[in-house]
Amino acid sequence: MACVFAARADGQALELNRCVNMGNALEAPNEGEWGYVIEAEHFGAIREAGFDTVRVPVQWTAHLLGEAEQIDPVFLARVDRVIAQALGADLNILLDVHHFEALMARPARHMETFHKVWRQLAEHYKDLPDRVAFEVLNEPNGALNGVAMRKAQAAAIEIIRVHNPTRTIVLGGEQWSNVETIGTNLASGDPNIVYTFHYYEPFDFTHQNAEWTGPDGPKRRRGWGDQADRAELAGYMELARSFVDRTGKRVFLGEFGAYEKAPARDRLRYTRAVREAAEAAGFGWCVWSFSVPFPIYDPLEGAWLPGYLAALGLDEQ
Ligand code: GLC
Repeated sequence: MACVFAARADGQALELNRCVNMGNALEAPNEGEWGYVIEAEHFGAIREAGFDTVRVPVQWTAHLLGEAEQIDPVFLARVDRVIAQALGADLNILLDVHHFEALMARPARHMETFHKVWRQLAEHYKDLPDRVAFEVLNEPNGALNGVAMRKAQAAAIEIIRVHNPTRTIVLGGEQWSNVETIGTNLASGDPNIVYTFHYYEPFDFTHQNAEWTGPDGPKRRRGWGDQADRAELAGYMELARSFVDRTGKRVFLGEFGAYEKAPARDRLRYTRAVREAAEAAGFGWCVWSFSVPFPIYDPLEGAWLPGYLAALGLDEQ
């Protein structure tokens, strides 16, 4: 298996190299409501295929109890089980705070909740092995930008660091953590921070007919892979790479992929091209996602969709 991952630029941050997002499970208001429930054997299949990491998006704010905003112990126990299963399968885990839309809309009003969630997680998970990393907040957007975003993240990092002084922290920039905003928050000299971006360009290919993009979302059927498409990809990866050259920081491509309504052959071609470009730039990557909504695996069949492991540079079983 060819790997071209850069040596660590600084610190001892965890290597997150070949990763898959466990999307649409714990990020739904209730697991199962968005079409996917995580099963222990999925982690076995993931490890066996050659991935080393899973990113586990979690919508904690759908599970807060009372005025104290305590994370529902039943839900927390469910996440504990998922973490134990992934660790049992010899995988690194990237645990995030996902879908906190209220914070994006009204940062000041919801900041305390954000930090309360991190206070609980940082304490509860402090004894987990180093191979569990924390991602402060998925895709900051809306009003959570600029100084407001940097302050929110800096305070969360401070909270995490009380009990997790060297745990790897993953940090995304504003405006949905797109490639142009990597490192919008560079204030900290903490060597165990990895900078992340998400790549869904061109959006009218990756999100064609995706229901959640609403009435103004892309509706036209569009393929991917001509010269202009490839030049665009190369340009964006170069931009991300120039951030590394400038700062010496490590970069992780935390989400990329295309919706299942994109032409099948082009979805595969795109997956391969983005993965190869990320590796050539020295970035670990995390494909979106395992099952729905951008599937590479069929949980009912217990099988990888044809071509995806090869596109990801992993061996077909
Ligand atoms: C983001 C969203 C997730 C969505 C994905 C692709 O991660 O939080 O719900 O499926 O992007 O659009």
